[in-house]
Amino acid sequence: MACPAIELRGITKTFGHVIANQNVDLVVYRGEILSILGENGSGKTTLMNMISGIYYPDEGHIFIDGKEVTISSPKDALDLKIGMIHQHFKLVDVFNATENIVLGINDGKFDIKKAESDIKATCEKYGFEIDFTKKIYEMSVSEKQTVEIVKAIYKGADILILDEPTAVLTPQETNNLFNVLRKMKDDGKSIIIITHKLHEVLDISDRVSVLRKGKYIGTINTSQANESILTEMMVGEKISLDIERSTPHDSVDRLLIKGVDLYNKEGVQVLHDISFTAKSGEILGIAGISGSGQRELLEAIAGLQKISGGEILYNNPKTNETEDLKDKTPLQIRNLGVRLSFVPEDRLGMGLVGNMDIVDNMMLRSYRKGKGVFLERKKPKQLADKIIEDLQVVTPDTKTPVRKLSGGNVQKVLVGREIASSPTVLMAAYPVRGLDINSSYTIYNLLNDQKEKGVAVIFVGEDLDVLIDLCDRILVICGGRVTGIVNGREAKKEEIGLLMTKGHFTGGDSNE
Ligand SMILES: Nc1ncnc2c1ncn2[C@@H]1O[C@H](COP(=O)(O)OP(=O)(O)OP(=O)(O)O)[C@@H](O)[C@H]1O
Ligand SMILES: [Mg+2]
Repeated sequence: MACPAIELRGITKTFGHVIANQNVDLVVYRGEILSILGENGSGKTTLMNMISGIYYPDEGHIFIDGKEVTISSPKDALDLKIGMIHQHFKLVDVFNATENIVLGINDGKFDIKKAESDIKATCEKYGFEIDFTKKIYEMSVSEKQTVEIVKAIYKGADILILDEPTAVLTPQETNNLFNVLRKMKDDGKSIIIITHKLHEVLDISDRVSVLRKGKYIGTINTSQANESILTEMMVGEKISLDIERSTPHDSVDRLLIKGVDLYNKEGVQVLHDISFTAKSGEILGIAGISGSGQRELLEAIAGLQKISGGEILYNNPKTNETEDLKDKTPLQIRNLGVRLSFVPEDRLGMGLVGNMDIVDNMMLRSYRKGKGVFLERKKPKQLADKIIEDLQVVTPDTKTPVRKLSGGNVQKVLVGREIASSPTVLMAAYPVRGLDINSSYTIYNLLNDQKEKGVAVIFVGEDLDVLIDLCDRILVICGGRVTGIVNGREAKKEEIGLLMTKGHFTGGDSNE
């Protein structure tokens, strides 16, 4: 067989007592796409960071085209034609695409017009689409990601590493990305991709290498793999990938949304006459292409956005009274037991403070209404311990700053905290973004537990298969309008897909 483009032998990396990688081997050939698969905290990002010069291994050897190399900075990596697309983009917001791509090369004498036409040629070749008139801050996540990839290629990358590139993309955007990756592969480039979505692994890669708890488990050809083989390699045992759905009992209308209209800061109407009911003891799914108004809807319920028309009524189980949430502050709404856990594209952007430890992050939310300024640390500590145990958060202890946890483990802390607050209405948006398959099922089970306890659960998800398996009813929105409400037990994927793209509907459909 040909000499590998890149080979790792016996790579070990520790952070204090944490062994992130232990004696890991890895081989990637030219013209292939390799997936790296492993549970949250299994060491994938750390390993890639050593190839791209962010970290330096404690032990082991790296070979490029059969020659041993030392990579001690991102510049060394670039000189070896290695480029990495991180989960948190490193672009300058006020610059446009070209300015970002040539950043660092532009020494004044530089011909920016020529650079732009070269960049455009690269885009043409691989099928990237970039709007060169836009500044970064005007771009969607997917557009920013495209700029990052083009930047790496423009700088000469032959080995491209993508760390969870699809975690923040819609299925359509993922498709576009995969088409581009296939063209790059045909062009002889080596691509390493990390993703937790097994169907993506099976779709895009030629081979899959698996890590478990920092150790290299093995590599198999994708053509010989399936979801259960991959899961078993990852977890070390067979696990069941079924979601149990119980029949709701004694459901009452908990939240009544009636004819809600909402305008964003720019004065554009983003919610049009939205009506639906969320019931206790039920999981209501919300399906829609991302950016269809999901965020605004949940934020309006949580009191974080002002609606311009309609009502948001809450049947308070404690008083048996109906209250209009529109007149309440976000804190009053939270205290009524209405909880929002929105996992944004940038996980550390909302709800968690990276430099604070897990216990302090618990206190940020749950114990604010305590008896004055002296916060009690014992309860949050117990809560932190419980979340770490229930969700199997990989961390040395509760005193570790959140920013040192792996991406998926940060997420578990965020979701666990909201679920633990005994809500009456739990709104969870994208709760499994970036979570490994095992943890995703743990979250689905937790949502089911909440349902059983009589909580009205609203689940905004991206994966239609999961929505159909988990939810009792599914509300579909498109362009800020309700295009349908379907029964989760009978719904077909195609039907929901159609409703998601139905365009304008003079809707505001009522419930059933
Ligand atoms: N800078 C750091 N300081 C301390 N520990 C770290 C640091 N970076 C990573 N770790 C630890 O190393 C282990 C591996 O983390 P890594 O980010 O590589 O996991 P991962 O496989 O990418 O997980 P995920 O799927 O959640 O992104 C984790 O236990 C993590 O907490
Ligand atoms: Mg990672």
